[in-house]
Amino acid sequence: MRARPQVCQALLFALALQTGVCYGIKWLALSKTPAALALNQTQHCKQLEGLVSALVQLCRSNLELMHTIVHAAREVMKACRRAFADMRWNCSSIELAPNYLLDLERGTRESAFVYALSAAAISHAIARACTSGDLPGCSCGPVPGEPPGPGNRWGGCADNLSYGLLMGAKFSDAPMKVKKTGSQANKLMRLHNSEVGRQALRASLEMKCKCHGVSGSCSIRTCWKGLQELRDVAADLKTRYLSATKVVHRPMGTRKHLVPKDLDIRPVKDSELIYLQSSPDFCMKNEKVGSHGTQDRQCNKTSHGSDRCDLMCCGRGYNPYTDRVVERCHCKYHWCCYVTCRRCERTVERYVCK
Ligand SMILES: *[C@@H]1O[C@H](CO)[C@@H](O)[C@H](O)[C@H]1NC(C)=O
Ligand SMILES: *[C@@H]1O[C@H](CO)[C@@H](O)[C@H](O)[C@H]1NC(C)=O
Ligand SMILES: *[C@@H]1O[C@H](CO)[C@@H](O)[C@H](O)[C@H]1NC(C)=O
Ligand SMILES: *[C@@H]1O[C@H](CO)[C@@H](O)[C@H](O)[C@H]1NC(C)=O
Repeated sequence: MRARPQVCQALLFALALQTGVCYGIKWLALSKTPAALALNQTQHCKQLEGLVSALVQLCRSNLELMHTIVHAAREVMKACRRAFADMRWNCSSIELAPNYLLDLERGTRESAFVYALSAAAISHAIARACTSGDLPGCSCGPVPGEPPGPGNRWGGCADNLSYGLLMGAKFSDAPMKVKKTGSQANKLMRLHNSEVGRQALRASLEMKCKCHGVSGSCSIRTCWKGLQELRDVAADLKTRYLSATKVVHRPMGTRKHLVPKDLDIRPVKDSELIYLQSSPDFCMKNEKVGSHGTQDRQCNKTSHGSDRCDLMCCGRGYNPYTDRVVERCHCKYHWCCYVTCRRCERTVERYVCK
């Protein structure tokens, strides 16, 4: 009789492993799709790594979008590593997609950022693909209602943000909308953070202009609404990551909601990233919590940011080493119109954490 609860636990554990807690961002594994895969037949959908069943179905019915989504997965990898290059958690574990470690499996601040960035990236890639004419289903975005300002006129091809947001939300949120996967709290957290990602993308829409007129006089400018680069959206989301709010799943009225854990009674804001579980400080290696630690990480002795050696190395100290850098130097301008340079080598002192 005693064995029973254990069997039960083992079963539950196996079930949890099978459904994969982190089903929502498994699709980032698409970044490894070989460029040679044609992706023009529905059978190809099953060959793609990281597509959970809800996404295989979407793939079949929206095959023309898949190249764009593969591109989005690659962009997420790049933008995430870039945004966190100077942090103790540097986003390198995203490369493990589709089988993540606990830093991304649990409802952490880091996973909040990755979910938001992933949602933003899909919509960004689709809106951009509309502009470049890569998608049969969409064209340029609408001409804005307001006047473009003196000396400007609307023209060019705007990014079709509404189409990007619509189709992007379908893809990024589909895994979370499947019943019976993961806990309700995790699902709500992920859906919220995806929406924050799309909101950051909306906020990045800006007026872009091109000059016309006699030899660059810029007497007339053609303008359109275009999205900023994904790395700029990632920088915005990193700011929100740094001020993310810890939430708990609490009954409010007849249903349970995510509400801020601290005592100020207010609903979660649409603009803030939220997380359920605190992260470790990522100083030491600890696989149980998904921390790689910062040993051997490069740090900067004079920086004022989070890559400063005492912060990055958590006070353990650091080892100097010298590195040679080759640069262009003694550059000379020749009339007309080229520049010649020499190559100079110099040594620089760098530091790695103990
Ligand atoms: C898919 O693409 C491959 C390679 O580009 C091509 O040979 C094949 O005919 C295409 N199939 C369909 C159904 O379009
Ligand atoms: C894109 O923007 C245009 C406005 O120019 C709009 O009519 C269209 O519905 C949008 N979506 C698609 C799929 O083209
Ligand atoms: C990111 O951190 C990991 C683990 O500490 C390390 O192995 C890797 O070299 C780091 N990447 C960069 C670009 O610093
Ligand atoms: C270190 O930080 C300083 C100040 O931010 C910066 O000027 C310098 O380029 C950095 N050095 C390296 C090796 O990144």
